[in-house]
Amino acid sequence: MALTVAITGPTGEIGMAAVRALEADDRVERILGMARRPFDPADHGWRKTEYRQGDILDRKAVSALVASADVVVHLAYVIMGSRSESERVNLTGSRNVFAATVAAERPKRLVYTSSVAAYGYHKDNPVPLTESVPARGSSGHYYSAQKAACEKALAELTEKTDLAVYVLRPSIVAGPDATILLRSLPWEKLGGRIPEPLRRLLGAVPGLRPVLPDPGLHFQLVHHDDVASALVAATCGDGPPGAYNIAGGGDITMSDLARELDAYAVPVPAELVAVTAELVDLLPYVPPQAEWIHAARHPMLMDISKARRDLHWEPEHSSLETLRAMLHVKDDA
Ligand SMILES: NC(=O)c1ccc[n+]([C@@H]2O[C@H](COP(=O)([O-])OP(=O)(O)OC[C@H]3O[C@@H](n4cnc5c(N)ncnc54)[C@H](OP(=O)(O)O)[C@@H]3O)[C@@H](O)[C@H]2O)c1
Repeated sequence: MALTVAITGPTGEIGMAAVRALEADDRVERILGMARRPFDPADHGWRKTEYRQGDILDRKAVSALVASADVVVHLAYVIMGSRSESERVNLTGSRNVFAATVAAERPKRLVYTSSVAAYGYHKDNPVPLTESVPARGSSGHYYSAQKAACEKALAELTEKTDLAVYVLRPSIVAGPDATILLRSLPWEKLGGRIPEPLRRLLGAVPGLRPVLPDPGLHFQLVHHDDVASALVAATCGDGPPGAYNIAGGGDITMSDLARELDAYAVPVPAELVAVTAELVDLLPYVPPQAEWIHAARHPMLMDISKARRDLHWEPEHSSLETLRAMLHVKDDA
């Protein structure tokens, strides 16, 4: 097949795993990566990968990247950032990648990593979510809204073209090289705010063990290497184009997370989460990070049987194994 693959965001948590997997696949001959930071593929022992510094906001740089590619994989994104910066990169930048790929003659496939967040945190979401549920997004959460907007833009821009479009919707990604979950946990901030009497009641010795709020929701994790194998399957066209939910087997709760971290889980009533999320919506100037409270409002469990059946993809790690793989590395650090 000898594919040339252009990839935006190869230096990110998913990007590194994706390039490793593409390097290992015989069907891929050449990988062209682009992100903003300086980076040398040789430092990672990569032989097929060429890297250039570039910004997806620069349409010329994007057009030059995709021109000689058979497949374009779009990963570059801002996950934790201000609403305005993330909007610029995620909406304008992604649009550049989609439009440049449509305009270029050579690419026959476009693979985009969306997210479970694209569905939006809605009361009437079915459990589990299948790909037939519309990606409505949640307006109160910038990331969710932007993920839904990107999917819409992608569908509109590619509607009347021959491009085969693959949209992967991973759950939260974790693993030894993906620690965003750990880094963005509210435990230090929230733990300190739990009143002392409540801490004592819970048997927590102040200052000794961190406290994690647990609204009782179940959620899925997926290992970065399992996302990478799904990206390879889409890149090589191992199944028909379309949207695919991507998650590890089983699910976990904040209490599982707390147990693995030797922390305390404090049950937080779901109603409190809902009220707080509504407050966040009403208050002007709340930091964008506060909008992630929406992610804890409703269960967001996905059915992954379509990826199993059509993309012939199987996650090698369960959600719990993925959590442990991430924490094990933290212990060693
Ligand atoms: N991590 C998760 O839990 C998760 C879950 C579901 C879906 N996803 C999606 O998967 C994709 C990849 O996520 P990730 O976890 O790998 O993110 P990440 O670790 O934050 O990496 C983001 C990548 O995008 C690049 N980038 C950011 N802005 C750019 C710009 N303006 N121009 C060019 N490159 C830019 C970054 O490199 P530079 O900073 O060097 O430019 C980096 O390579 C994203 O679309 C994300 O929304 C992630």
